[in-house]
Amino acid sequence: MRLCKTIEEVRLLLKTIRSEGKSIGLVPTMGYLHQGHLSLVRQAKERCDVVVLSIFVNPTQFGPNEDYEAYPRDLDRDATLAADAGVNIIFAPTAQEMYTRFFSSYVNVTGVSESLCGKSRPGHFQGVATVVTKLLNIIQPDAAFFGQKDFQQVLVIKRMVEDLNMNTEIVDVPIIREPDGLALSSRNVYLSPGERKAGLVLFRSLNLAQELVANGEKDINRLRTAVLNNILEEPLANVDYVEILALPNLTKIEHLSGKVLLALAVRFGNTRLIDNAVLEA
Ligand code: PAF
Repeated sequence: MRLCKTIEEVRLLLKTIRSEGKSIGLVPTMGYLHQGHLSLVRQAKERCDVVVLSIFVNPTQFGPNEDYEAYPRDLDRDATLAADAGVNIIFAPTAQEMYTRFFSSYVNVTGVSESLCGKSRPGHFQGVATVVTKLLNIIQPDAAFFGQKDFQQVLVIKRMVEDLNMNTEIVDVPIIREPDGLALSSRNVYLSPGERKAGLVLFRSLNLAQELVANGEKDINRLRTAVLNNILEEPLANVDYVEILALPNLTKIEHLSGKVLLALAVRFGNTRLIDNAVLEA
């Protein structure tokens, strides 16, 4: 496995790989790898000859009062996990390498990025779209792999890639959960044991919604209220949003028809967890 810290180095290496006719898969991450990331690597390995894993805690997608400084980082641990999973190249640039002194170009996806996390975290998706554009331009992968836990992020990136005619297939991969249902996230390390236990209310609430839909409930307001009330029963939960929106454009709806996204963002102490499920009548 090769570790590249500069854009020049990774481009040079990929030039040779491309000239050998090999396909390239990119798994973009912010590091502190867990089984969710490794399942993206597995998918990438199944579909591509060479897998590049990028590790970059992207400053432009964090708000001024968010956890950019505190975000967990451990390149040595990540490198061991990546090598064991069969990653061929790690691209781990510094913030200065990615954002040079006079950097002033941003990618803004409207519509699908404006609800849910786009509303609660102003500027977040502009930062994500910008860094993903940069990574796609640097690596020029045949396919890039993203987890469905960040469902809105996947929709924003798919919209951007289609709108801007980017030549990469975007592949989304199902959420990986702990045996008790907690969705894997690098931020789970922030949770105290009590908060972690309280966080299980998210998975329970998603299951409750699936059950209600299976029993014929189609009224979006009633579904949303049932999920919200279930979460509010957990004293440590501080709800940011509970929303049910139509796919793929995250538009408002009153009745369940086709596929809809149930999306949750809830704080437990200082840690904001997100989770989601696709509901279908
Ligand atoms: O999902 C993430 O880890 C990040 O948002 C991404 C896609 C790597 C961009 O920084």
